[in-house]
Order: sequence, then C-alpha cells, then structure tokens
Amino acid sequence: MSEHGWLAVVGVGPGDPGWITPETTAILGSATDLVGYAGYVERVADSGHTRHVSDNREELTRAGHALDLAASGARVAVISGGDPGIFAMAAALWEAIERADHDRWQAVDVRIAPAVSAIQAVAARAGAPLGNDFCVISLSDNLKPWAQIEKRIDRAADADFAMAFYNPISRARRWQLGAAMAVIRGYRDPATPVVLGRAVGRADEALQITDLARFSPGAADMSTLVVVGASTTRVIEQGGGRRVYTPRYYPDT
Ligand SMILES: C[S@@+](CC[C@H](N)C(=O)[O-])C[C@H]1O[C@@H](n2cnc3c(N)ncnc32)[C@H](O)[C@@H]1O
Repeated sequence: MSEHGWLAVVGVGPGDPGWITPETTAILGSATDLVGYAGYVERVADSGHTRHVSDNREELTRAGHALDLAASGARVAVISGGDPGIFAMAAALWEAIERADHDRWQAVDVRIAPAVSAIQAVAARAGAPLGNDFCVISLSDNLKPWAQIEKRIDRAADADFAMAFYNPISRARRWQLGAAMAVIRGYRDPATPVVLGRAVGRADEALQITDLARFSPGAADMSTLVVVGASTTRVIEQGGGRRVYTPRYYPDT
C-alpha cells in the first residue's frame, strides 16, 4: 500500500482471534486510525491507534469519515465483523463513494481484505451443511423490501439450495424468521436439518441442531446464523456427537 494515506476495509472474523487472517493483522499493525462499530473495534488489541467508534446503523456516515481521514493522510482500517464484503462495511464504502457530490475520495488508495465470515464458522462447527450448492440471504428488511426477500427464499427453496440466514431476528424484527420458515416448509420435509449457530467463536457460543418441524424462531437472536438444509442434508453420529452435512453428490448422478 502507499506510504501516504490509505484505507483498508478489514474483517475481524466472527469471534475467535485465531480466525483473523495474517493480512488483516498486518494491516491493523500499520494503521494509524481504526473506524467502526464499537463492538468490532474493541476486538482489536490496543497499539496506539486513534479509535473512531460509532453506532452500528451509521454505515454511510462512518464510511465518509474514514474516507476523509485517509484523504488527509491517515492510514485507516475500517473494521467489520466477519468478512467486510458480506452484509458489512465494504459495500457501504463504495456506496458512499458513488453518492459523493465531490471528488475528494477519488484518489484514496482503497483495499478490501477478505476474512472469515460467520457462515464458514457455523458450517465448520456443525459439520459441513454447505457441502453442496447453497445460498446466503439476510433477513433484514431495513434496506430491502420483505416481498423481495420472500421471493428469493421461495425460489431458493424450490431449487433445493441449502440456505444460510444472516440477521435472522432483532429487537425490531421479530416475525421475519418465522415467515421465512413457513415458506421453506412448503417445499421441504419436516425432518430437514436446521442448524442455529450462536456467537460462534466467542465465550457464549452455542450450537443447536434441530429440524424444520421442531424449529422455533425464539431460539435465535441477533448473534445467530441459521442454516436450513437441502433435501439431501443429513445428520450423522460421530465421536459421540451429531454432525450435519450435505453430500457432494446428488441423487441419480
Ligand atoms: C450484519 S451481519 C454481518 C456479517 C459479517 N460481515 C460476516 O461476514 O459474518 C450480522 C449477522 O452475522 C451473523 N453472525 C455474525 N457473527 C456471528 C457469530 N459469531 N456466530 C453466528 N452468527 C454470527 C448473525 O446472523 C448476525 O445477525
């Protein structure tokens, strides 16, 4: 990266410090300023950075602030949870640049560093539920209409994808997860495995393996990722525990 100001959007993974990549560690080591939601910024060890923390909903303002800092010569790391390109700050940064009514940010050296996302962490804990084709859907209807989300779930269920749901529920969004499951129940067997991975990689981690018939939205919270299996996804016993996986092959192949 340049010796002048730069901006890197990095992800600190879903929780376990061991999942932070060497590239991200190097970027954090040479950054002068950290910008992000307080809960993510505090996961970065203190090494003399100037910290700029903000509320989780202020992504565009935060992106603009980070770009201004970099344009004035700071080496800025914008911190996301998980991977910065998955329902996170990287897209907000490009949105801010595209919407800007000035060209001050055009010369900023911008880089996005890939990282471990919650989906990979939850899948690894459960077994390999994403071993075949899958799709990822955020259930948050803050920035997209519920009708569009429901349509995507319907098409993905019909096409027999395993499905991973980010942002399944929040204090303000209580009914969406139940509505999503109602759509899927129209296509899948009640015994289809469902995985709830909560705060994976953190001290309060919890993993629940259930099925569509027994699934209750109340078991999920804002720190949960929900995976619904495809028709081929199964639960097996190994090492005294239950594992969920989706075979690489499909029937009749
Ligand atoms: C705004 S999204 C951010 C996703 C993040 N950029 C990533 O790649 O994991 C927040 C959602 O990610 C999921 N999530 C984040 N960390 C998690 C963890 N440690 N365990 C389970 N799910 C997690 C939850 O579904 C949560 O509602």
